[in-house]
Amino acid sequence: MADLSTKYLGLTLKNPVIVGSCELTSSVENIKKMETAGAAAVVLKSIFEEEILLEVKKYLDDAAKNSLIYTELSETLDYIDLHTKQETLNNYLDLVKKAKKETLIPIIASINCVSDSEWVDFAEKIQAAGADALELNIFLNPTDSKEKDFEKTAINIIKKVLKKTSIPVAVKLSNCFTNLAHTLVRISETGVAGMVLFNRFYSPDIDIDYFYVMAANKFSSPDEFVKPLRYMALLSDKVKCSLAASTGIHYGNTMIKQLLAGADAVQVVSTLYLNGIDYITTMLTDLENWMQGKGYFSIGQFKGKMSYKNIPNPALYERMQFMKHYSRIG
Ligand SMILES: Cc1cc2nc3c(=O)[nH]c(=O)nc-3n(C[C@H](O)[C@H](O)[C@H](O)COP(=O)(O)O)c2cc1C
Repeated sequence: MADLSTKYLGLTLKNPVIVGSCELTSSVENIKKMETAGAAAVVLKSIFEEEILLEVKKYLDDAAKNSLIYTELSETLDYIDLHTKQETLNNYLDLVKKAKKETLIPIIASINCVSDSEWVDFAEKIQAAGADALELNIFLNPTDSKEKDFEKTAINIIKKVLKKTSIPVAVKLSNCFTNLAHTLVRISETGVAGMVLFNRFYSPDIDIDYFYVMAANKFSSPDEFVKPLRYMALLSDKVKCSLAASTGIHYGNTMIKQLLAGADAVQVVSTLYLNGIDYITTMLTDLENWMQGKGYFSIGQFKGKMSYKNIPNPALYERMQFMKHYSRIG
């Protein structure tokens, strides 16, 4: 039997399949099913800075309705602020503790953050609750025309969290940075244990019959694996941390491609919504069968075999316009 184990964030994983952060990972029952299906680790549903602030606002609105607060200067505000934050956090810490208690796989907590402010203290508490690692979903919105320096903001966030924690910290990033490859290399040099390439943004669509804006595709499509694949191949030899591929990895074969490009692990979400949690087993069987067919006994024998450094014509990963390719069409 092939050895599917891999190292990610300094953790030894029994195989490269990590369930990415999503609603499914907010339930310990589901996490247990994921473990049974073969998942090597799970990233919990994110706790959002925004979520905490909204909760505070909701509490304030309710309190105002009940005439508990008369002015914005009320001292009650301080108490409510603290209290509501505590409640959201405690629920999350309970999830970490329960997931740790009831499973044997690494549990990676997740914080969706946009600044280096309040939530940084949460990171310490998440660590104390027993999380094996922390993933920061650094959600810098590229439609924001006021934010000047996304790269600097991301690095500041990372530095602050690293000061507070000793568990491995991964960052999940979008592909909307200026000079993406350079930025990712710089971020990898901050001391993070890993990067997740890439986060996937919600996209708006327009209904042309009833004139409203709706969500385009909640789930990725299987051909979306190509963008992470390019950057995986380009960067896996250059970055100073481990790498997980994310977005569009629906099947065993796309996981294999990411490993060939140099990924240490992959994260899967949409495929589990579309094909069920048990589909993890199919992906792992496909990986094992492929390895057997190629005569590989371990992931290390082929990881990065098709990375930038290891192919005869690495420019194939750099080329953005495929003139020859397009000129043959039509
Ligand atoms: C329903 C749903 C909920 C999600 N919630 C989160 C979340 O809380 N935090 C996060 O970092 N990513 C979240 N994501 C993004 C996924 O972790 C992942 O990055 C994205 O779906 C791309 O991977 P995929 O192609 O395997 O779906 C969510 C995705 C879906 C579909």
